Amino acid sequence: MAGVGHYVPERVMTNADFEKILDTTDEWIVSRTGMHERHIARDDETTSDMGLAAAKMAIERAGCAASDIGCVIVATVTPDYLFPATASVLAAKLGIAGTAAFDMEIACSGFIYGLTVASSLIQSGVYRRVLLVGSEKLSSITNYEDRGTAVLFGDGAGAVVLEAAERNDFLSSELGSDGSDPSLLLVPAGGTVAPLTAEGISEKQNKMVMKGREVFRFAVTKMIEATDAALAKAGLTRKDISYAIPHQANRRIIDAAAKQLEMIGDKVVITVDKYGNTSSASIPIALSETYGAGKLKDGDLIVFVGFGGGLSWGAVAWRWWER
Ligand code: ACO
Repeated sequence: MAGVGHYVPERVMTNADFEKILDTTDEWIVSRTGMHERHIARDDETTSDMGLAAAKMAIERAGCAASDIGCVIVATVTPDYLFPATASVLAAKLGIAGTAAFDMEIACSGFIYGLTVASSLIQSGVYRRVLLVGSEKLSSITNYEDRGTAVLFGDGAGAVVLEAAERNDFLSSELGSDGSDPSLLLVPAGGTVAPLTAEGISEKQNKMVMKGREVFRFAVTKMIEATDAALAKAGLTRKDISYAIPHQANRRIIDAAAKQLEMIGDKVVITVDKYGNTSSASIPIALSETYGAGKLKDGDLIVFVGFGGGLSWGAVAWRWWER
């Protein structure tokens, strides 16, 4: 990776703020999720705006210009529009309209899928430099009357600039999805199954609905399976991991998976306490913070692992090389 960056909106919503609007407590939220606060975008702040801020940081850290980027990919479930692609809008805001750009929609696994696609585009020689952004305005699809989901989600963006280099960094990928029961985690209305109507909006069918317990169980199992599968494909073992950077959905999910993977201490990156679940942005935000704290060393093995709506899951084994 040539550069990493992130952005979170200024406004912070704490557990105490939720105590004022919902039948909930700081104690319940912290003990069930590990979350203390999350950042919420301004009404006029869009997914591409947040992605732009993260992308600028990643491009600056990469020491290149936006015009050096050959392709822009945005992973998001909260695009600026149904179409055009948020990536096209973002490319224009970066001053590189005309560059190849497309979105990927696979919920919280978006960054893992995006990393696989972007790295493959580079390894196959199609592009020399790809900008991959995970950006989410989850507050726009959160039902703030539903205590079971409202407290979980936040807004933000993370970005990476991937670059062709002699030393290989993308080692392996394991991806999966199972769409046999969309009701586990979805936004019911707004697509072709249930087009948006005034009645649907009044019933909040344009907001996220989730069966939390089922998703929890699936998440722990798939994080472990995907991590082991990606490591095996790269000819590596759990002991080789320098850092695991998991999707930040719930501290208890991360702890349960980390325990079974025998990952201890600060090898597992946690940001869920500060940002909540930011879907496809959570992994690149955590990566950018780890980089910013000066923790990454040449040759470190990072496992990125995620899961989410779809259901979907995936892991990528990555070798960190200083550029
Ligand atoms: N405050 C207080 N009580 C609450 C709250 C709240 N905010 N939310 C739920 N409860 C109550 C429930 O109503 C229930 O009460 P009841 O027993 O009287 O019916 C009780 O707490 C237990 O509810 P559960 O849902 O069983 O609680 P659980 O321990 O499973 O925690 C949680 C819920 C945090 C949602 C957990 O299931 C979870 O994290 N699931 C996975 C979520 C996830 O990873 N989602 C991925 C989304 S990513 C994407 O793709 C967008």
